[in-house]
Amino acid sequence: MILTNLYIAILLPLLTNADNSPEAIDHNNEGGDIKLVTNIIKGEPAQQSDYKFIAQIFYRRDDRVSFKCTGVLITPRLVVTAAHCITDKNRDYVKIQDLRVSVGKVNLINVENFNQMIPLALMGAFNYKNHRQNDLALLNLAEYVYPDEATPIKIYDRRITDDLNVEVAGFGVTVSGSSIPSSILMKTAIDISSSANCSTYNSNWNSNSGPQICQESYSGNDSCQGDSGGPLTTKIDGNMYLVGITNYGTNKDVTSKIVCGENTIAYYSRLGYFASSIADALKVPIGEITI
Ligand SMILES: *[C@@H]1O[C@H](CO)[C@@H](O)[C@H](O)[C@H]1NC(C)=O
Ligand SMILES: *[C@@H]1O[C@H](CO)[C@@H](O)[C@H](O)[C@H]1NC(C)=O
Repeated sequence: MILTNLYIAILLPLLTNADNSPEAIDHNNEGGDIKLVTNIIKGEPAQQSDYKFIAQIFYRRDDRVSFKCTGVLITPRLVVTAAHCITDKNRDYVKIQDLRVSVGKVNLINVENFNQMIPLALMGAFNYKNHRQNDLALLNLAEYVYPDEATPIKIYDRRITDDLNVEVAGFGVTVSGSSIPSSILMKTAIDISSSANCSTYNSNWNSNSGPQICQESYSGNDSCQGDSGGPLTTKIDGNMYLVGITNYGTNKDVTSKIVCGENTIAYYSRLGYFASSIADALKVPIGEITI
């Protein structure tokens, strides 16, 4: 716990200017209780060869282990996921020893293998407690991952344009409202939305240049429960780059309980925004973790 706090103390001063959009809306989850969101709607199976950086995060509570979130390996020892995946509804950290990670596999790992999964040495978020739009967490693995197990993905830190080709992947539910994660990693292509479009539904929305990226779903292609922490990627010359990770979704119709699929908006944390802070925390040059 001391180590965890230390890590946060290192990250905190770097992030004092991080809140340029005060409160992202979340009509369905008012009060901070963000529902686990990780399942791809209208998706198709992801190829192991494309997703060698994928991570699965499991959580043990009262001796019961469950799949918690998707994650992404960005160095041989660092997994990124959503901050809400490692915090409770008050946005306080869960116990680090109750989290375990498995990397490099597109098939969902059986919960019974919890004790064989990789424990965490440290974890921290970017002052998520006070800034909900900073829904990004760093998980420092207790051991290095070898390239034959999983390969890290580099961060895309260029400007986000509305026409950037992206896809999202996760082990989330494939039917809205279900609680059973997908047994295989699913992916789907989505369209990034313009700031003007997103401002229509979220008066606090600023732009896709801040900590989050906004996506409206017209086609029904979407991320959903259980996809939280999963990668939003773009492919350049055959290589995948990490644009964002899944945060949460809401319906444009605030009275609707359906938060994934058609007529919804999904938010992703933008990794390019956090890249220099991550590099500083790791004490590596930014070029080592970016495109
Ligand atoms: C929706 O996702 C499928 C793959 O899951 C893809 O083939 C299709 O082009 C996507 N539609 C749009 C509008 O992006
Ligand atoms: C903006 O919204 C309109 C519908 O109001 C949609 O047709 C268009 O594709 C959206 N464009 C972007 C870039 O978000």
